[in-house]
Amino acid sequence: MNFELINVRTEAGRVGIVTLNRPKQLNALNDQLMDELGAALKAFDADPAIGCAIITGSEKAFAAGADIGAMASYSFADVYKGDYITRNWEQIRSIRKPVIAAVSGFALGGGCELAMMCDFIIAADNARFGQPEIKLGIIPGAGGTQRLPRAVGKAKAMDLVLTGRMMDASEAERAGLVSRVVALDKLMDEALGAALMICDYSQMAVMAAKESINRAFEGSLNDGIVFERRLFHALFATADQKEGMDAFVNKRKAVFQNK
Ligand code: CAA
Repeated sequence: MNFELINVRTEAGRVGIVTLNRPKQLNALNDQLMDELGAALKAFDADPAIGCAIITGSEKAFAAGADIGAMASYSFADVYKGDYITRNWEQIRSIRKPVIAAVSGFALGGGCELAMMCDFIIAADNARFGQPEIKLGIIPGAGGTQRLPRAVGKAKAMDLVLTGRMMDASEAERAGLVSRVVALDKLMDEALGAALMICDYSQMAVMAAKESINRAFEGSLNDGIVFERRLFHALFATADQKEGMDAFVNKRKAVFQNK
């Protein structure tokens, strides 16, 4: 596949890495970029050798939001009939393998929302997060009003969305938006280390864990617990469960075969 606005590579043949690449626009997310990102992630998802994906940007910007230049002239008819955001951004939700956001610099508006669509965020110490759409006369439109309060609670989500202010990496970590903060020059090593660790586990257990945690945000506690229990039970039908437990009992390293 030929991509213009993203760079795609694999690391150790097991981790798929997408680097957003519109540097002059601070990786502003237009339709073409989101189409390319969706296609790249789907290809990684379909590749049995790949166990985890990473999305990253540049030092200055993970992504400074949806492309304001492109949006400026959109009418209601354009966005409604064209299914703006839903049509391509939502593809990320269908990726079943883990996706890590490695964020440095600005993650604003749709950039913050893209990071939140990933399974967890590792941030460089220069990362800045925000939902400044209010300054443009709109509201977040790629899940920000739903995922941000789930991550940081109502008070901080209201503060960020209503004032449009940014928060730095340490505030984002304290608030629970990011899982780890590291020095800028260690960002990709840290993300890659986490990804390779995930790749060593049974893909079925990893996908089941992701699916089950996502349920925690989408239904009642009771439904989520039942869903988790069913997946937990189902994993006892896998060879990987036998391998993982036998390895523990016999004090050796497990070798999973994704079966
Ligand atoms: N869309 C389009 N272009 C953008 C952009 C965006 N979201 N963000 C930055 N750019 C462009 C700028 O227009 C500028 O281009 P030119 O050099 O051609 O003028 C270039 O990137 C560099 O930007 P700045 O000169 O502004 O850089 P800075 O360092 O002074 O400021 C910034 C950086 C604070 C991130 C500032 O660029 C900014 O505020 N950007 C907009 C952030 C924003 O409002 N994001 C939300 C978008 S709406 C949205 O995302 C909707 C949704 O929920 C889906």
